[in-house]
Amino acid sequence: MKYDFETLIPRYGVGSEKWDEMREAVPDLPEDIVPLSVEDMEFKNAPEIVEGLKEYLDTSILGYTHATDAYYEAVIRWMERRHGFSPKREWFVEYAGVVPALRHMVGVFAKPGDSVMITTPVYYPFRSSIEFNRCQVVESELVETDGRYEIDFDDFEKKASREDVKLYILCSPHNPVGRVWTEAELRRIAEICLAHGVFILSDEIHFDLIMPGYRHFSMMNLEGEYRANCAVCTSPGKTFNLAGLQASNILIPDKERREAVVKSRGWFSLNALSYRAVELAYDRAEDWMLEMLRYIDGNKKFVVAFLREHLPFVRAAELEGTYLLWLDFRALGLPARELEAFMREKAYLFFDEGYIFGKGGEGFERLNLACPRHVLAAAMERLEQAVKMAYPAK
Ligand SMILES: Cc1ncc(COP(=O)(O)O)c(C=O)c1O
Repeated sequence: MKYDFETLIPRYGVGSEKWDEMREAVPDLPEDIVPLSVEDMEFKNAPEIVEGLKEYLDTSILGYTHATDAYYEAVIRWMERRHGFSPKREWFVEYAGVVPALRHMVGVFAKPGDSVMITTPVYYPFRSSIEFNRCQVVESELVETDGRYEIDFDDFEKKASREDVKLYILCSPHNPVGRVWTEAELRRIAEICLAHGVFILSDEIHFDLIMPGYRHFSMMNLEGEYRANCAVCTSPGKTFNLAGLQASNILIPDKERREAVVKSRGWFSLNALSYRAVELAYDRAEDWMLEMLRYIDGNKKFVVAFLREHLPFVRAAELEGTYLLWLDFRALGLPARELEAFMREKAYLFFDEGYIFGKGGEGFERLNLACPRHVLAAAMERLEQAVKMAYPAK
């Protein structure tokens, strides 16, 4: 292995959201507990990005900065090389993060009182972005069969055809259930939405995090009017663990819609370090990403094998993409809040609770696999001990 994914850097006192939240929730935690929740990685930064930023700081001035040709070219090359589409430069709308972009775009494309569709369980800020804009949430629940989730297209179309539904927020790949939607599924979504005048906000922030054997199809790979009916949210934030730099590129091919977003966004630029970090990530850190993905795949295999051997009643959804493993604890029969309390207080496990992802999430836990394997090994041992103590029959 060329890169180090084994060294843990504790993040107490440096402003890490998930580490601080964990301490607040259970103040007397043992020192060595690592949270397995919020989606950033417990891996050292890619050395190519660190070195490049040091060089930048040594040789530049941190004045007002806007995107350079080199910035756009690096992003475009990445989309071409990794995702098979070539975004035009004018499609770009930079934003300080995908969540703020979604929140803004819901307000641009829907009026208060309109409805916005989501397919649940899904990344919870989708709901809050809709509610923030005083719109109604319409949930089409995913259907699970043996740990694999699918869209219920009859229900989806029925809801998309409602007069009040103006937008659909797609999560592709899907957080938290780990699906990498197939091209056929995505084309069907695109057709239904176009037929019923529903604009698609496609959040593809996890588009690089694809497990062996799967392939991401971007809505930017669609043709003509189908593509024009989408805004695609991209970012190096998940891929290279740059969430703290808050850089995202929203691609909006339709001129009128794009101008509506740009106009209401007002004056905006990313910060100087973000521009440079995005460029460095896409141009120099691909090998780091590929090795990181192999490591995540190894982590998944480790957890799945552990559960199969020691806690076979816990079912893991197939991980097609993302680094988030969706675990089904319904066999314990615990109401959502009791499951949460059991994990935190008895097993010192800090997952993201299934119930926060909306309908279909109760009884599940979302485990973040992006950490050193020894962290997962310790977590699995705590889980086994706590379960054996509280539920000896399991
Ligand atoms: C589906 C999805 N969208 C957006 C985000 C966050 O994006 P950003 O940090 O760019 O706001 C996440 C990560 O937590 C995510 O899983």
